[in-house]
Amino acid sequence: MAFAYSEKVMDHFTNPRNVGEIENCSGCGTVGNAQCGDIMRVYLDIDDNRRIRDVKFKTFGCGAAIATSSMATELVKGKTIQEALEVTNKAVMEALDGLPPVKVHCSLLAEEAIHAALWDYAEREGIVIEGLEKPK
Ligand code: FES
Ligand code: FES
Repeated sequence: MAFAYSEKVMDHFTNPRNVGEIENCSGCGTVGNAQCGDIMRVYLDIDDNRRIRDVKFKTFGCGAAIATSSMATELVKGKTIQEALEVTNKAVMEALDGLPPVKVHCSLLAEEAIHAALWDYAEREGIVIEGLEKPK
């Protein structure tokens, strides 16, 4: 098969974690993928110690986008906002035992949506998150 998904990708695709919305979230972000036009929205619930208490996502995206978002949200849950910034799309792909090369762009949606949600949170709180770039 020219195009194989790992067992972990299939698991997170068929049984995605953290799908949904958070009412009164601390920050949320929506991003679109320039290559395929798919979109993703991420909601964060951040506590007073700037730790991510909960995270949910929704996407109009392919299986790889769903699997990477599921894994990315699992990886940032419970982390501080600084630790969450270290959850790159590369880290997410590694946690999923890899993605087929043509699907690597899909993993960017989750990272970008989490960053956009963190940016929204920082703006609402009037803080600067070191190392966080303004979403495009
Ligand atoms: Fe959007 Fe694959 S191109 S789902
Ligand atoms: Fe669009 Fe995967 S093809 S996110």
